[in-house]
Amino acid sequence: MADKISQEPEYESTFTPQSILYIFWAVALGMYLAMTLLPSWLPNLSASLAGAEPKAYWYLSRGSGFVAMTLLWASMAFGLTITNKMARLWPGAPTAFAVHEFVSLLGLAFVMFHALILMGDHFINFTFLQVVIPFASSGFKPFWVGMGQIGFYSWALVTVSFYVRSHIGHNAWRLIHFVSFLTYVAALAHGLVSGTDTSALWAQWYYWISGGSLLFLTIYRVAASLSAPRPAVRIAAESRDHSLKSSSPIVE
Ligand code: HEM
Repeated sequence: MADKISQEPEYESTFTPQSILYIFWAVALGMYLAMTLLPSWLPNLSASLAGAEPKAYWYLSRGSGFVAMTLLWASMAFGLTITNKMARLWPGAPTAFAVHEFVSLLGLAFVMFHALILMGDHFINFTFLQVVIPFASSGFKPFWVGMGQIGFYSWALVTVSFYVRSHIGHNAWRLIHFVSFLTYVAALAHGLVSGTDTSALWAQWYYWISGGSLLFLTIYRVAASLSAPRPAVRIAAESRDHSLKSSSPIVE
């Protein structure tokens, strides 16, 4: 009984095998259209990608880095609003959970793009192994790029753990979920120190708002869990309410 009352609702994945198949089709179609239509629609971009000193890979990596960072922020923010119960006000816990799951997966896809596309950049000149092995990227800020790589792997760990919950158990899954704070801090440090755009005012505002809002939601979450009645108190209150109701002649 105590366990049942103290447990949070168990959310199930919103993805069905059919929806995953649709996503694969959409990605394949997108790639096909990009390869066939880009050369005629955006000749400059195509020329840059195929040229001797292509800058487009670097721009694409920087752009997708910020998209990934934003999706990571959204994933954390929706996760925190589920646990601190703010999601009940808006947009509702099931919707918040669906968005939380979706942006986590989408963000991972963007990080892979962000990292792998760097192999096309002739200035950074990363090999595949330098992209995938943490701290192996000699030449360009290896420690801070390594923080990004740690961010990616820890993000993948947290996301995958959701789908193997029944094997690892609820407590282990919750423990792994706390790693997401490390993911965010590692990605933030990585973006701040290795990013070219950090010196721009807009980027500094972006990082402040991103980190500040998550800090607020985290403090709110801790405060909410500290002020919530402990399971034993809740059980006592619930059984007291129950006995009051059953002895009362007024039926609600
Ligand atoms: C395998 C993992 C990763 C690798 C190899 C990698 C590599 C890089 C490199 C080389 C840069 C510097 C690009 C420049 O010249 O501006 C960079 C910047 C950046 N990365 Fe990553 N990264 C990884 C993971 C991540 C993750 C997990 C995130 C966020 C979720 C992220 C977000 C960013 C952001 C926001 C920037 C700043 C872009 C700018 O200021 O122009 N990266 N990354």
